[in-house]
Amino acid sequence: MEYYIGIDLGTSSVKLLLVDNEGKIHSTVTKEYSVIYPRSGWSEQNPDDWWIAIRKGLPELLKAIDGESVMGIGVAGQMHGLVILDENDNVIRPAILWNDGRTDKETAYLNEVIGKEKLFEYTGNIAFAGFTAPKIMWIRKNEPENFSEIKKIMLPKDYINYLLTGVHSTDYSDASGMLLLDVKNKCWSQKMLEICGIENSLMPKLYESFEVVGTIRSVLAESLGINKNTVVVAGAGDNAAAAIGTGTVCNGKCNISLGTSGTIFVSSDSFSGDSKQAIHSFCHADGGYHLMGCILSAASCNKWFCNEILNTKDYKAEEQAVGELGKNEVFFLPYLMGERSPINDVNATGMFIGLRPDTSRADMYQAVLEGVAFAIKDNLEIIKQFGVDVKESCLCGGGAKSKIWREILANVLDVELHIPLTEQGPGYGSAILAMVGSGQFDSVKTATDKFFEIKETVLPNKELVALYADRYKKYRKIYPAVKDLYKEIKE
Ligand code: XUL
Repeated sequence: MEYYIGIDLGTSSVKLLLVDNEGKIHSTVTKEYSVIYPRSGWSEQNPDDWWIAIRKGLPELLKAIDGESVMGIGVAGQMHGLVILDENDNVIRPAILWNDGRTDKETAYLNEVIGKEKLFEYTGNIAFAGFTAPKIMWIRKNEPENFSEIKKIMLPKDYINYLLTGVHSTDYSDASGMLLLDVKNKCWSQKMLEICGIENSLMPKLYESFEVVGTIRSVLAESLGINKNTVVVAGAGDNAAAAIGTGTVCNGKCNISLGTSGTIFVSSDSFSGDSKQAIHSFCHADGGYHLMGCILSAASCNKWFCNEILNTKDYKAEEQAVGELGKNEVFFLPYLMGERSPINDVNATGMFIGLRPDTSRADMYQAVLEGVAFAIKDNLEIIKQFGVDVKESCLCGGGAKSKIWREILANVLDVELHIPLTEQGPGYGSAILAMVGSGQFDSVKTATDKFFEIKETVLPNKELVALYADRYKKYRKIYPAVKDLYKEIKE
């Protein structure tokens, strides 16, 4: 038996997966770490914490097998995070994460002064606060000493690949979220590097996600007791890797992820996009492209409401108390960290509306789950404008475990939702990438055709779809009504 390691470097934890060459998961290990919120709307993590967690987890993951049979490693990671290294490859400052909203000025400069059309011409995308380029501009302005020390710019999973192999690399799917890549032509945009004031030499080498970037460093192979020829592939952004893990490859397939963030991802053989829409046009880890809408707070809204507000960790009990679907009079806007797509507004905040003396805890909980589903629908509506007709989708991420949330989502979106047999989207996808890189499969598609299986399908119900269509019409009116107020109350 041969084994592959898939690593999913998430925001709240890293998940390690050991998968055999038949696609069976042998063991999983999760190690948590924390997010630092230095100011409201900012979020950072210490890259050393990621590595400590991985180093602790790997021996546990591998304990039941002969390390000589490990053939390859693939890493998927939280996207857009800025990791900067000095001339000795030491981390200069904590990583600024994908859901950090400090760059509103830089983002406005890019979208309004450089202009969305130009940005789209250079990169295939417009600017969002969480993207990497505005963060580099923020460091240049606010931390000039740190800026002058930068010798390498990396994304979170690329830093892990560097520690595994000693090679500075990135892949097209993750690099797409930097706003430095010319996505359509798969090369760094010289114009964008100029705008950010950085040299080409600071950028890592670009690879397809399934290409091998190097072999594991010999000291590491020795200390882990694994094969010294273990290859490491370039890996992928977590959403592209999750799409691989859920068989969302080639043209017109859809995957929805309810993780800390929520994403709707449609794969495509060719590039498409539009400077007028706040949707992402990125490279896919199968060698093609995808469209993606990303909401910054999805399962994190559920976690926040249960842990911080209701003071409980018993999610099941809250789910069981949820009343009739489609009739809730309470609405919730899920903008706890501002919002990415489609409203692109760092000032937006979460809010409830529709509270009355008879509103129950269960109504408010239901509103949280429904608010996230409506925010995903906002993105689906835009994706439809690109001529994509989404009738079915896979669903993955922690939120997919909730039966009631699946039902709400299927009916709000009016889409059949397939729950994959393997829950571990990004980790499983990155293990598949490692199999392709090691030569076990000739393409990502061949691998996913062999391994992907559906466990269960949630069908929308006509009556509920109609009730939710009506609720959604009302939900859509809330944000425009409070948009200006958000900015005013922040100042
Ligand atoms: C995607 C995005 C998030 C992170 C979460 O654009 O920002 O989904 O990748 O890990």
